[in-house]
Amino acid sequence: MGNPFHRPVLLKETIGLLKIVPGKWYLDATLGGGGHAEAILRAGGKLLGIDCDKEAIEFSRKRLELACPGAFIKIIWGNFAGIGEICQREGLEKFSGILFDLGVSSHQLEAPNRGFSFNRSKILDMRMDSRLGVRAVDLVNGLTEGELYELFNKFGEEKLARPIAQAIGHARSLGPILAADDLAAVVVGVYRRFWKGRSRTHPATRVFQALRIAVNDELNNLKEALPQTATLLRPGGRLAVISFHGLEDGIVKRFLHDKEKEKRLKTITRKPILPSEEEIRVNPSARSGRLRVAEKID
Ligand SMILES: C[S@@+](CC[C@H](N)C(=O)[O-])C[C@H]1O[C@@H](n2cnc3c(N)ncnc32)[C@H](O)[C@@H]1O
Repeated sequence: MGNPFHRPVLLKETIGLLKIVPGKWYLDATLGGGGHAEAILRAGGKLLGIDCDKEAIEFSRKRLELACPGAFIKIIWGNFAGIGEICQREGLEKFSGILFDLGVSSHQLEAPNRGFSFNRSKILDMRMDSRLGVRAVDLVNGLTEGELYELFNKFGEEKLARPIAQAIGHARSLGPILAADDLAAVVVGVYRRFWKGRSRTHPATRVFQALRIAVNDELNNLKEALPQTATLLRPGGRLAVISFHGLEDGIVKRFLHDKEKEKRLKTITRKPILPSEEEIRVNPSARSGRLRVAEKID
């Protein structure tokens, strides 16, 4: 049976390039439904799994204990921005491989109470970590139109950022926008008026992406976490990062380029590895995944 929480993306490619050595420690910084983690454990690795989403932690703890009885697993509810400190606290300072599989899990997208999806959600929440103070609904109703424009433009690369911000301003003058499908309807209205082209994705995709990035401070977390991996990897250990949009991939690419210049990491994948057509057919949410891998230099 498939994993009901999340179907791992680029699984074979990632595990193959991590070159798992039985008995060595691996760090999965984005545990999610534990699909990649399970493959690491089945290959004989020991695992420290981190996720900032309590539901992911609870689900994967149970699932991995059942799927891999007797395996070495430590699971921590935390933000990967603080991986160095988390590892130190756990008494684990060197790893033979570190994985980041960025973005959201299918569970987060599909759970109606989480507010990540314009199709299924009622509440415009979008916090991966329930301890965070600001929800998407607070941004949508609290930012000025100018700030909303900046947000959609920068984190969503949304070409209709200006009219969408104005339409939100108008809609909320009639009453707060509370539900995800209400926000989606505002965006769809703008696209109907201003966009004559066709699109493969839902018109609200980029606005939802921008809000999610802002609520969870996703780009800053990644920028903080990556430099710590160079210290956490043992010589010959590998870093694998799967990203899902250009903003994330740009950060990863620049980081690998800088570390290559400093002779701390050697890039293994000159070009990012993309999912095969077959994987995209079976799992359409894999389509924007890109995997980059680097190795720690002695
Ligand atoms: C695409 S899913 C990972 C799926 C996982 N590889 C699997 O096979 O099921 C991404 C996960 O990363 C988590 N996440 C995102 N940002 C995080 C952060 N800053 N710190 C810790 N976990 C984070 C999300 O909560 C989500 O569960």
